Amino acid sequence: MTTVLDFHNVTVRRGTKNIIDDVTWQVNDNERWVILGHNGAGKTTLMQLASTRMHPTSGTVDILGERLGRVDVFELRPRVGLASAALAERIPSDERVLDVVLTAAYGITGRWREEYDDFDRDRARDLMRAFGVEHLEERHYGTLSEGERKRTLIARALMADPEVLLLDEPAAGLDLGGREELVAALSELAGFEAAPVLVLVTHHVEEIPPGFTHLLLLKDGGVHAAGPISEVLTDENLSSAFGVPLAVTNTQGRYQAIASERLNRFVGGHAR
Ligand SMILES: Nc1ncnc2c1ncn2[C@@H]1O[C@H](COP(=O)(O)OP(=O)(O)OP(=O)(O)O)[C@@H](O)[C@H]1O
Ligand SMILES: [Mg+2]
Repeated sequence: MTTVLDFHNVTVRRGTKNIIDDVTWQVNDNERWVILGHNGAGKTTLMQLASTRMHPTSGTVDILGERLGRVDVFELRPRVGLASAALAERIPSDERVLDVVLTAAYGITGRWREEYDDFDRDRARDLMRAFGVEHLEERHYGTLSEGERKRTLIARALMADPEVLLLDEPAAGLDLGGREELVAALSELAGFEAAPVLVLVTHHVEEIPPGFTHLLLLKDGGVHAAGPISEVLTDENLSSAFGVPLAVTNTQGRYQAIASERLNRFVGGHAR
């Protein structure tokens, strides 16, 4: 077992506020993590740190055995895939969809140009097929729907064959069918032994793909609870993390969370 992400007493200070507050968190190579937390809890900031795009104010962040602040982040970056809204905004709207995926591979290998192109074009198409966007390869990125963009960005993030894949709200904006397809694709990915270590930020327990193993609950920049999903995803932890009484259920490997008063009504109003 190798530690892939190792955060030790990490704080990120902005103005007078610690937007990440003394976070100690470890991700090992056989784990697939979900991060849940209220708006502003610090999820995206944590992904910024884990993807080498931000440095902590204090504490240490080790990524794939390299310490932020000591390593050349441009060497480390290709080993960490990231799909996020901030990154999506930087893609020119007139870029061809196939190129959006392909360009993620540029500069990573020094193979002979033509061989490099053939190899990578095949890989890009395979990934686009896996995420259901292969028919869009000639379209301009700016013409894609929200869901099509999200899936293209995941294919792009996987293009460089990263050792860690960070997904910041990949299901936001997807319709029900698109969400279910994405959850199924991530569940399948989670099952591959050779898959990168996965970290998925989401707002909805319904979006936790079967096969994900661990949960980090963030609250006000700090770790509210962390560990195996079955231990951490409890009514108590979720309710206190979101400040609302919530009840969690699991049906056929998928989670659901609803306000617990409503659940009480379903079961005849008995105290739980
Ligand atoms: N540069 C900054 N200066 C001041 N505050 C900041 C800065 N960047 C982020 N924040 C604040 O830090 C907090 C955490 O932001 P972050 O984007 O990590 O939250 P999040 O958990 O991803 O939220 P959401 O669920 O809404 O995406 C927020 O309150 C945000 O306003
Ligand atoms: Mg966010």
